[in-house]
Amino acid sequence: MSILIRGGTVVTAEGERRADVRIVGESVVEVGEGLSPDGARVIDAGGAYVIPGGIDPHTHMELPFMGTVASEDFFTGTSAAAAGGTTMCIDFVIPGPKQNIIEAYKQWRGWAEKAACDYSFHVAITWWDESVRRDMGILCQEHGVNSFKHFMAYKNAIMCDDETLVNSFKRCKELGALATLHAENGELVYVLQQDIFNQGITGPEGHPLSRPPEVEGEAANRAIRIAEVLGVPVYIVHNSCIDALEAITRARLEGQIVFGEVLAQHLVIDDSVYRNPDWRTAAHYVMSPPFRSKEHQAALWKGLQAGMLQTTATDHCCFCTPQKEAGKDDFRKIPNGTGGIEDRMGVLWHHGVRSGRLTPSQFVAATSTNCARIFNLYPKKGTIQVGADADIVVWDPNKTRTISASTHHQNIDFNIYEGMEITGNAAVTLSRGRVVWSDGQLSTERGTGRYVNRPCFADFWSSQNARNAAAVPTPVKRG
Ligand code: URP
Ligand code: ZN
Ligand code: ZN
Repeated sequence: MSILIRGGTVVTAEGERRADVRIVGESVVEVGEGLSPDGARVIDAGGAYVIPGGIDPHTHMELPFMGTVASEDFFTGTSAAAAGGTTMCIDFVIPGPKQNIIEAYKQWRGWAEKAACDYSFHVAITWWDESVRRDMGILCQEHGVNSFKHFMAYKNAIMCDDETLVNSFKRCKELGALATLHAENGELVYVLQQDIFNQGITGPEGHPLSRPPEVEGEAANRAIRIAEVLGVPVYIVHNSCIDALEAITRARLEGQIVFGEVLAQHLVIDDSVYRNPDWRTAAHYVMSPPFRSKEHQAALWKGLQAGMLQTTATDHCCFCTPQKEAGKDDFRKIPNGTGGIEDRMGVLWHHGVRSGRLTPSQFVAATSTNCARIFNLYPKKGTIQVGADADIVVWDPNKTRTISASTHHQNIDFNIYEGMEITGNAAVTLSRGRVVWSDGQLSTERGTGRYVNRPCFADFWSSQNARNAAAVPTPVKRG
């Protein structure tokens, strides 16, 4: 089966050019001007951009969390992703306290077999002993895992204390794996939650009060400093505020290998949502870190434009209204999480490219290529070139739609962007050469997504190791 995408402007992180793209089977086999169909199915991309499928580095399909399970499963979630132009996600295996990490990894692999687009897994380190150390090696060497997640928040649940963090960072360094972090000071959050609740603030407005920007900045700084001492590269997920951005920026300017992710929703939604008089609407936005004031949003945009933040994600973690109602009388019990995998690309195009903040190439870098490079998927994923997987989107820059739960494909009964009109949408989405979205119709199939191995990337980290080695003191020779 061959396909010719004809007449579009191909955009990669490096630039744009008019070119046709020929696909045979699952891969791109030719990129050039005036290619002849030679019997291929022709997809007309006239007036459109042809871009690499989006990669979402941060999702939580069917996650068991806070006494419930996220409503979006791997099939519905990856299908909704395809409708919005995202063709791959990296989800999280989150072992319970003392759960064997390989057993947890296999559990998640089983759940993900229904996925309709490609996927991979970060594995969370929530506890520590010698078996975890050993199994991190097995996951890297035998299962294509090259990134481990550390939750610095969620005390009494999945929080990773500093002892575990340090042990795991050292192991990441040995393996050439990337340490990723949810940066919030979990002890502080815990204390603030009790204080605020005891003051009689029980509604969703208590949520951001218990997680101020300083709580995030402290944890980001701590993680980065620990990583600096140990010489380990780190990736901080869902940065929401100036405090975390400053920590990343300082470290990067000092030459440390630190990556930063920003969520589309943190860029365009502010903290006024928590003061909505309707409890349900306010509760829909309970996620961590919380939405912030407009000055933080403006800083995040600048961080993305300046390359201090490299990736954009969704932290897609759907809880429907009845699930959120578990915290009706206590904001601490509202399951934390928001959805948005279907809307990330459109929201970022509209508010990023159409507003003049990002070029189309910067958009491609921030939605696909940078993620592929950082997590070692490139150039199979994250670009359009001969040999790459044909995860490709024909992107119509003039197509307008109004985001709504009544029309979205996500398995959640509300949409955090409800009513937002965006221009720029996926016209056609291909997942490894299969058309999965076209003319407003999904044609995804359960189980056609494939697990993607991500080998450790030892060479990539060597400059950091060298930098640290140079600073190692030698013992004083005596007598
Ligand atoms: O509120 C959030 N973000 N829920 C999902 C878990 C996490 O912290 O990423
Ligand atoms: Zn998180
Ligand atoms: Zn998350």
